[in-house]
Amino acid sequence: MFEEILLIKFLNDIEMKILMVCLGNICRSPLAEGIMRSKLPEDFIVDSAGTIDMHQGSNPDKRSVKTAAKYGIDISKQLSRPITTEDLNQFDKIYCMDLSNLKNVISLAQNEDQRSKISLLMEAADLNHASGEVPDPYWDGIDGFEKVYHQLDEACEKIAEKLLISKAQNS
Ligand code: 4NP
Repeated sequence: MFEEILLIKFLNDIEMKILMVCLGNICRSPLAEGIMRSKLPEDFIVDSAGTIDMHQGSNPDKRSVKTAAKYGIDISKQLSRPITTEDLNQFDKIYCMDLSNLKNVISLAQNEDQRSKISLLMEAADLNHASGEVPDPYWDGIDGFEKVYHQLDEACEKIAEKLLISKAQNS
């Protein structure tokens, strides 16, 4: 009973649930999850997923872990998982890394409410990097991960700022 009350209190205290999505959920979205979590208070839930299940249960790519650690963010214990249709009910904002991820996630949406939660991360941040996509660094060296880190950091900073302003205005 006490545990149930605690759970209800915890759920009521949650401001927003954010899901970061890429292809494999081992390179970009785990970094995006760690960076975004570092910029928001604890009443914001941040998670990540992939559009494929090929790496399900794996920790993030060592290059993502190393790059995040360089900036004081520990993503080493995250586990890859594929996105599910239930995620579209559970999360309030779903940010996709590239256009292919966006198309695949939109194809899971069953109604306009779910569709309205899904966006391209760079567009949500009002940033016009190249094609508006976060490039897949999987086939690159560590330099590619460093570039992706900074791109994600800039985007997450902008989005976190907007979300916190909106939270302040609504309270
Ligand atoms: P991510 O990168 O989508 O940023 O996690 C990739 C991870 C794995 C593969 C491709 C991209 N793969 O082909 O296995």
